[in-house]
Amino acid sequence: METLRVGLGERSYEIIIGEKILDRLIEFIQSKRYSSTGLVTNETLWDIYKNTIVELKKDLPLSIFIIPDGEEYKDILWFYHLHTKLLQNRFDRSSCLIAFGGGVVGDLTGFVASTYMRGIDYIQVPTTLLAQVDSSVGGKTAVNHPLGKNMIGTFYQPVFVLIDTGFLKTLPQREFRAGMAEIIKYAVIWDEKLFSFLRENSNKISDMDHHALRSIIARSCEIKAEVVSRDERESGLRAILNYGHTIGHAIETVTGYRRFLHGEAIAMGMYGEALIARGRGLIDNSTANEIKGLIKLYGLEPSIPGELRGNDLISSMLLDKKAKAGRIRIILPERIGKVTIEEIDKEEILRAINDARV
Ligand SMILES: NC(=O)c1ccc[n+]([C@@H]2O[C@H](COP(=O)([O-])OP(=O)(O)OC[C@H]3O[C@@H](n4cnc5c(N)ncnc54)[C@H](O)[C@@H]3O)[C@@H](O)[C@H]2O)c1
Repeated sequence: METLRVGLGERSYEIIIGEKILDRLIEFIQSKRYSSTGLVTNETLWDIYKNTIVELKKDLPLSIFIIPDGEEYKDILWFYHLHTKLLQNRFDRSSCLIAFGGGVVGDLTGFVASTYMRGIDYIQVPTTLLAQVDSSVGGKTAVNHPLGKNMIGTFYQPVFVLIDTGFLKTLPQREFRAGMAEIIKYAVIWDEKLFSFLRENSNKISDMDHHALRSIIARSCEIKAEVVSRDERESGLRAILNYGHTIGHAIETVTGYRRFLHGEAIAMGMYGEALIARGRGLIDNSTANEIKGLIKLYGLEPSIPGELRGNDLISSMLLDKKAKAGRIRIILPERIGKVTIEEIDKEEILRAINDARV
């Protein structure tokens, strides 16, 4: 088992990573003497992990709150519904919530915890690869608004993150691959060694070898923890975590968030943004190809589909709050393991998008 620490002064917390480590959740909660504990999960996870969750009830007085499965339920109505449940169950300021699920359950539960009685503790037990390496760490909580994704939310850190890689065994392959995109992102922005490790151990990782998985998940969390500790509220450095996300987010938006999983869009975004960097002479062709090769190695598609019009993607990027006077801020690799942030005009982006078609 590995233990990491997110250093944020009095809001610091531990992340533990291992297999079959749910006992540590019980120990943590018992040590805190919470007045009550509620576990939020969704219907899919409840079906798969009902026995595991019920087992926890032997050691913890636990209320269980189940939401439907889907991004569309990460909304203000389910936020309100959970508040109602907490009030009905007489949760007080010394209560605690556990988010048991992927990023949807984690973001919603974190947001509820941050507002219920002006804030109660919450614990993240992420069950998707994306949630294990990204959304469970860093304290961004949110629900969606019909006019925009993640538009209502808070920065509110969990008190503990427990990552059990065993949960990944039931995760659909497509979700696993999408989570790999975020790990590739950490390698490109921060860690050349991780990049080489991913290249050399793709068989082990794809076969869910526990040691290889634990190692890449721990390294990803370590990088995220380091970045978040230095810039919790994204006033500077934290923006580098958005590598691949400017183009990726535009791809998600123009396809109505239905055609691609987040990680699939980010994979294309990472390649497109690598081509912008190549166009500016920041990286050479072989580095852009290395990034493309790693994306493909994990079964993700780097090319941007021809039917997604470049101008539609650009229009979506220009609507983003980070765009300024027709120029768009994009994270660009300078080499594997290092990125820079530059303001790019739309013609340059358009050229890269067209180059990323094949
Ligand atoms: N807070 C942040 O910093 C942050 C960062 C990235 C993404 N997000 C958010 O995360 C969300 C996406 O998260 P996600 O990719 O985890 O999607 P998700 O939570 O929708 O989970 C994906 C699917 O996998 C299922 N699932 C989860 N764990 C499983 C398991 N162990 N076995 C079988 N099935 C399982 C879920 O029921 C769901 O159907 C988005 O809402 C996004 O905005 C937040």
